[in-house]
Amino acid sequence: MSAHANAPGVCRFYFNGKLTTVQDADPLAPLVNTIRERCHAKATKVGCSQGNCGACTITISWPEGDPRHTAAPMAVNACLFPTGGLFVDPHGDPATQCASITTVEGAIKNKRMASAARSIAECNGTQCGFCTAGMVMKAAYYEGEVQSGLTNCTVRDVEDLLEGNLCRCTGFRPILYAMKKHFIGEQDPKVAEEMISTPALVTQGDANSYLKCYATGDYSSPNFFVPATE
Ligand code: FES
Ligand code: FES
Repeated sequence: MSAHANAPGVCRFYFNGKLTTVQDADPLAPLVNTIRERCHAKATKVGCSQGNCGACTITISWPEGDPRHTAAPMAVNACLFPTGGLFVDPHGDPATQCASITTVEGAIKNKRMASAARSIAECNGTQCGFCTAGMVMKAAYYEGEVQSGLTNCTVRDVEDLLEGNLCRCTGFRPILYAMKKHFIGEQDPKVAEEMISTPALVTQGDANSYLKCYATGDYSSPNFFVPATE
């Protein structure tokens, strides 16, 4: 790669719906670093930095006309995506050239995603919370697939969805149940037979207060649900 290709550049993209410009961005920096350090959005985590754990999952969609455009936003491991992939002509038309990036802070403002996150919290699908942003973002990706008619949304499909997202705490059963409950519904016999019988760690009110942390960006109150870590 030439020295020119490695030079800092202008990174411009829609970040959680807002057009954002990052000047002098390092093209080789993983996008998750740019999100955390230049966009100051700290809910997306860095676990393995190797594309194995899914803690850094975000979604990206590209404008129509771009060869990367897909019917629904893609789930991306932001630890592997180079920031230089978002370099654009700063004078170009953002509507036709800028990618749209969503992190959990933005996704959670959508009612369906707030519901998915609440399902994870109420089913004891989060403990230390390190994996949870990635889990919610994988759900956000899948929501796009469902709405675009790209999946039949079977129990097996939802189980496959979490391939690539690791949790070191919960044993996965509560997370899988939360996802099935959200996407398929607990009235489905296959989901019902897996119903989690243990009492939820958090109440509805508590789950809502965790969601409020995302909506307001105020992480000052104690919470464990996808904490924003430095
Ligand atoms: S930090 Fe990106 S997949 Fe683990
Ligand atoms: S890694 Fe701790 S809740 Fe998943």
